[in-house]
Amino acid sequence: MKITGDELRKKWIEFFKKRGHTPISSASLIPENDPTVLFTTAGMHPLVPYLLGQPHPAGKRLCDAQKCVRTGDIDEVGDATHCTFFEMLGNWSLGDYFKTEMVPWSYEFLTQELGLDPDRLAVTVFEGDSDCPRDEETAALWEKCGIKKENIFYLGKKHNWWGPAGQTGPCGPDTEMFFDTGKPKCGKDCSPACDCGKYVEVWNDVFMQFNKTASGTFEPLKQKNVDTGMGLERALMNMQGLKSVYDTDVFMPIVEKIKELSGADTSDAEALRAVRVVADHIRTATFIIGDERGVTPSNVDQGYILRRLLRRAIRFGGAIGLKSRDYSAVAAVVVDKYKDVYPELDAARAKIVAEIDEEYDRFSRTLENGMKEFEKLCKFLQSDIIPGKSAFRLYDTYGFPLEMTVELAKERGFKVDIDGFNARFEEHKNLSHAGAEQRFKGGLADTGELTARLHTATHLMHRALKQVLNDDSVNQRGSNITPERLRFDFSFGRAMTPEEIKAVEDKVNAAIAADVPVTCEEMTVDEAKAAGAVGLFASKYGEKVKVYTMGEYSKEICGGPHAARTGELGHFRIVKEQSSSAGVRRIKAVLE
Ligand code: ALA
Repeated sequence: MKITGDELRKKWIEFFKKRGHTPISSASLIPENDPTVLFTTAGMHPLVPYLLGQPHPAGKRLCDAQKCVRTGDIDEVGDATHCTFFEMLGNWSLGDYFKTEMVPWSYEFLTQELGLDPDRLAVTVFEGDSDCPRDEETAALWEKCGIKKENIFYLGKKHNWWGPAGQTGPCGPDTEMFFDTGKPKCGKDCSPACDCGKYVEVWNDVFMQFNKTASGTFEPLKQKNVDTGMGLERALMNMQGLKSVYDTDVFMPIVEKIKELSGADTSDAEALRAVRVVADHIRTATFIIGDERGVTPSNVDQGYILRRLLRRAIRFGGAIGLKSRDYSAVAAVVVDKYKDVYPELDAARAKIVAEIDEEYDRFSRTLENGMKEFEKLCKFLQSDIIPGKSAFRLYDTYGFPLEMTVELAKERGFKVDIDGFNARFEEHKNLSHAGAEQRFKGGLADTGELTARLHTATHLMHRALKQVLNDDSVNQRGSNITPERLRFDFSFGRAMTPEEIKAVEDKVNAAIAADVPVTCEEMTVDEAKAAGAVGLFASKYGEKVKVYTMGEYSKEICGGPHAARTGELGHFRIVKEQSSSAGVRRIKAVLE
C-alpha cells in the first residue's frame, strides 16, 4: 500500500481512538528527571510512572506518535534502515485491556488498515523461563486470527522481552510482528531471530507485567499493561515497498535537497552513504535543537551528542561537496516537512538555522588544520595505536569528538588508546564530557551507582539547606542528576552567603562521616507525612510511597534508588550557587 508518513500517523491515531484510546502529544525528546538516559528512546519512556501505577490524567487507554532518539547504532546509519531519530507509533493499556484485545487489534491493523497479506506475516512469542511462563496464550490468539502455525516462533528473553528503558522499571514478555520479504529461508533454522533479511520487524507489543528491581529480579507489577511500538520510518519502507527508509516520503525531500546542494552521484555507494548520514544527522539535530526543551551544541550531555551529530554530518557532507550554509538549508527542509505535526520546529526555525551555522563556523575554523594534524600523526605513528594524548590534542585543540578520531583511525586501520584519552581528560577536570561519551556509546547508561550516590547526597543537602537557611519555605523545585554532578533547584529569595554554603557542605560531610545506613520503607502518603518525611511530588505516586531514611539526617518520600550507606558518598562539595528564576536558586554539587 502506498501510504505516506502523514497518512500512517493519522490512521494509527484514528484506529485506536475508535477503540477508546485518547491521543496524547509527543513528549519532549529530553527526558525530565531521568538521569539514566539522555534522550527519550521509546514511546513508553515518558509514561513510566503510569505503567507503574500512577493514574494518567488522560485515562487508561492512550495512543501517540513519539519523537525518539537512539544513538547506540550510529555507526550503522547510512545503511538501509538505521536512523538516530525516529518516530514511534504507540498505544497503551494502563492496567486496562490485555492480550485478548491487543493481539486481534494488531492483526486487524496490519491486514485491514495497512493491507498486509496475512500469509506474509510472521510473529514471535516468549518461549518462557524461570521468570515468566511460555506465552501460549498469545500464540493461540495469533493462530485464531489467522496466522499460520509455521509462522509463529517461540524465542527467549534476548528476543522476546522488552525493557526496562533504563536500569530498572517496567518490562515484560513481548510479541513481535514481522513482514516476510519473500526471500528464501537462509537455513533450516531461519526465523525472525536471524538477520538474513527475510523478516523485517514492523511492530512490537509488550505485555508489561514486571518491574525489574536494582538487584535484577522481576517483581510482578500491580497492574498488567500493554505497551506497543511501531517505528514509523521502517513501517513506511515496508508499506511503500522500498529498500531503504531514506527512500520513503518522510526522507525524500531531505535527501533530494542534499543531492541538489552537493551534486552527489548516489550511484556511488560511498556518496550514497554520505547523503544518508547527512540526512539522518541533520534531521536529528533539527529535532534536538527545535525541541520544546531544546539544547544547543556544547561539551556536555545532550549538547555534546548534538555537537557530534553536527560535526559528523559536516565531515561526511564535506566529502560530497556540501558547504557552509548548506547544512542549515537542509534543516529548513526538515522543518518544512514536519512543522504541521511538530509545530515546535517552526517556532524554533531561526534558532535551528543559527545554531547549525554557528557550529559549522566553529568547527570549520579548526577542521582543516585538525585534519592536517591527523594525517601527520598517522604518518609518524610507530604502531597501529594512536596515543591517548594525541587523540586528546585533536579533541582539545581542533574540536574533534573522540568518536570522530576513532572513525578516522578505523578508516586507516588504526586504533585509538581510549583509556589514555580518558586519563588526559580527567586530568583536565571535565568529567561531564566523559560521562556523555560513555552514555553515548551504550545508548542507555550504566550510571547506577554514581547517580544513586548523588541522589543520596541530594537528600542530605536538601535537609541541610532547610536547617542552615532556617527557613521553612526552602523546598525542592527541581532536581537533575547526571553521573558527574547533582543539580538542585529550591525556593529561596536571595543568594546564599559563602558562610552558608560552607555550613551546608559541612553538614552533608558530617552525615557522610557518620556512615549511617540508608533505609527504605513503604507507607501511605499520610503515614509518611506523620513520620515527618518531606513529601516531594506526592501527587506523582500511587497509594503507597517509599520513604528513605538516613539516620537523623534525612527522611524523604522518594522513588530511589540510593546508596546503601552515607559513608559511600565520598566528599561533598558545592561548585555553584546561582539564581535559577525569580525566587528560585540553583545549586550544582559534586562528590569527590
Ligand atoms: N517499548 C517497546 C519498544 O520500544 C514497544 O519496542
